Order: sequence, then C-alpha cells, then structure tokens
Amino acid sequence: MNRQVTILAIETSCDETAAAVIRGGRTIISNVVASQIDEHRRYGGIVPEVASRQHILTIDAVLREALRPLPGGWNDIHAVAATYGPGLAGALMTGLNVAKAIAWIRELPFVGVNHIEAHIYANWLLTDAQPEAPAPQFPVVALVVSGGHTLLALLEGHGRYRLLGQTRDDAAGEAFDKVARLLGLGFPGGPAIQRAAEGAPGGVVLPRAWLRDSYDFSFSGLKTAVLHQIRDYQAREAALQPGAGKSAGKRSGGAPSTPPEATATPHLPPTVVARLARAFQESVVDVLVTKTVEAARAFGAAEILLAGGVAANLRLREELNRRAPVPVRVPPVALCTDNAAMIGAAAFYRFDAGIQHGWDLDVQPNLALDG
Ligand code: KG4
Ligand code: ZN
Repeated sequence: MNRQVTILAIETSCDETAAAVIRGGRTIISNVVASQIDEHRRYGGIVPEVASRQHILTIDAVLREALRPLPGGWNDIHAVAATYGPGLAGALMTGLNVAKAIAWIRELPFVGVNHIEAHIYANWLLTDAQPEAPAPQFPVVALVVSGGHTLLALLEGHGRYRLLGQTRDDAAGEAFDKVARLLGLGFPGGPAIQRAAEGAPGGVVLPRAWLRDSYDFSFSGLKTAVLHQIRDYQAREAALQPGAGKSAGKRSGGAPSTPPEATATPHLPPTVVARLARAFQESVVDVLVTKTVEAARAFGAAEILLAGGVAANLRLREELNRRAPVPVRVPPVALCTDNAAMIGAAAFYRFDAGIQHGWDLDVQPNLALDG
C-alpha cells in the first residue's frame, strides 16, 4: 500500500459540488464543498435540472480551491476519481466527465467510485480531532443512512460487501425531509426535526416497522402515521371552535385527498410540532439502532460504522453508542453529508487493489452497493 498516493476526487451526484485531495486514502489535504441548498430551498426539495446546471457553474472554482494547498499543483496528483453512481444522471455527468477529461489530458489513471461505498469510507478519513486514529477493523457492519439510501452492509475486507438489508420505500433522510414538510419545518428536514425535537416532551409514540426476520427497513408508514396525528389534532381543534360541526364537516368532506409529501401543514402550535418531531425521530432511531445492533451481533462485527447525511443526527449517534456491543465509528458531521473527501478515500483502496476505469465509464444513476 503506497501511502503517498495522492488522489484528486470529484463528487457531483446530488446537490453538492465537491472536490478534494486525499493522500494515502486517509489524509485530507483539501476538502471543498459548494452546497446548492439555497438554490433548492425555494422549491422545498432538490430539482435535478437546477442541480446539473449549478455543478457546471461551480466546478471550476471548487477544483481550483481544492488544488491550492498542493506545492507542486497538478504535478502532485497521481490519480483522478469521481462518483459515477448512484445519483442524479445529469448531476453525475458533470463530475464524471470533468474527472475523465483531467485524467486524459494529464495522462493519469482514472477511478470511478460508488457513492454509497464512499459514504462508508468517510470513516477511514483522519480528522484534526483524531489525527492518529487506527483504520477500521474488518469485519464491520455499516449503516448507511442518507437522503437517497438506507442500507445495512457487512464488509469483510476492502471491496468485499454483503448487502444485509435496505429500505423497501423511503430512505431515512427522505422520511425526515417529508415529515419536516408535513410539520411545516424547513428543508433539509433532518436538522430541522432534530432541532424541533430537542427538549420536547414525550407522550406520543409512533409505530415502528420491524419487518421481522429481515434487515430491511420501511419508513413510509411512519410518515403516514405522522399525517394521521396531524389530522386528528386538527379535527379535535376544529371541533372546539364555535360552529364547529359545519366547518369541520366541510373541510374533511370537501378536500381532495393529497399524497402526504404534497401536504405542507403550517399553523400547528410549536408544542405539537415538537412532540411529533420527537416521536418521529425516536421511532426512526429505534429501528435503525435495533437492526444495526442485531446485525453486528449476528455477524461478529469488530466495529460498527455509521455513514450518510442522517448519521449527523445526534439522537442516532447517542442511541447507537449506548446500545452497541462493539465500538461505533461516526465521521464528523461535515464528512457525513456529501463531500469529495470520502470519494478520495474509497478511490484509494480501489486503486490500491489495481482497479481503474476506462474513458467509456458511464454514469449509473441506480448503481447498487455491490454493483
Ligand atoms: O448523504 P446526504 O448529504 O445526501 C445524500 O446522499 O442523500 O444526506 C442528506 C440527508 C437529508 O435527507 C437530510 O435531511 C439528512 O441527510 N440529514 C439529517 C441530519 N442532517 C442531515 N437527518 C437527520 N438528522 C440530522 N441532523
Ligand atoms: Zn450521499
């Protein structure tokens, strides 16, 4: 393993334009992330067309910034890597083609990276807080929880994956985002729900989809349960209003039925929002932690690795640490959400195993972890 190998990595699979320089798979030389969140907030979610165009506008500045700390500039780069899936096709294309063009013109090896695998590899990166941390020990059980994916995997070595389970409907982050919208909280929903739930009273318990005898997950029923709680609350409130019978009847009878994700619910009192946010978060965290702990026991994991945007969730971290039978590793928040440093880490171990890709590598929007 050549610890001096320095990789320029690019990530454009969703709404972050990111570039990083990583040495030896673990040392961050630079890590630049330009988030488009403000562009998308006004739409209440990510608009693929907007994302693709923003990547084109931003990638040049992000790359220059990422290369700045290198004394030899381009000459210090030994290989170029980029995410080729899963993600938004148009968004992926920018990063992938820029990376290939750079590699071609500089006659450098090119490595395509799986975005989900890269989230797991964020746990290999060294941070200022723990500059000497040993690398994770195999076998590991990894829980990847992001806006687009929720899965449990067993890693027996670099590149040796076994998918244990995944979500059958919404990803955990997607559920956070949809429920935040139902509660009239902002986008992205994860941090908004976490904030709203802080210090909220208990008392409301929402269902958990255990899907027994499986490591799969399901979060769409939970989202519907939140919607029912909101409707029940509104019905109770309406019944207390003077002349309630008429207006309540009119509302429930006349409104067309809308899918939960299309229904924003402003004007809920903050205490109701806080209680539901807490109950929702507790339900998601309970299922994620219980299944991860069961998998770690069943497969004799030496460590548990948490990864993806939802790994930023403080209750998830706290509860997993409390219940895990083995050490839990979680990247710092900035390395949980989309970034290119994790792409560089994953690329290093692939490159080290002799893997490189040709100029014909296409984007794969639905790429699986073991694909
Ligand atoms: O990994 P990521 O940055 O992008 C994808 O690859 O999807 O994950 C973004 C997701 C969003 O759904 C966001 O709401 C969620 O991560 N998220 C959180 C928190 N911070 C971000 N979910 C729960 N609690 C948080 N603190
Ligand atoms: Zn991601």
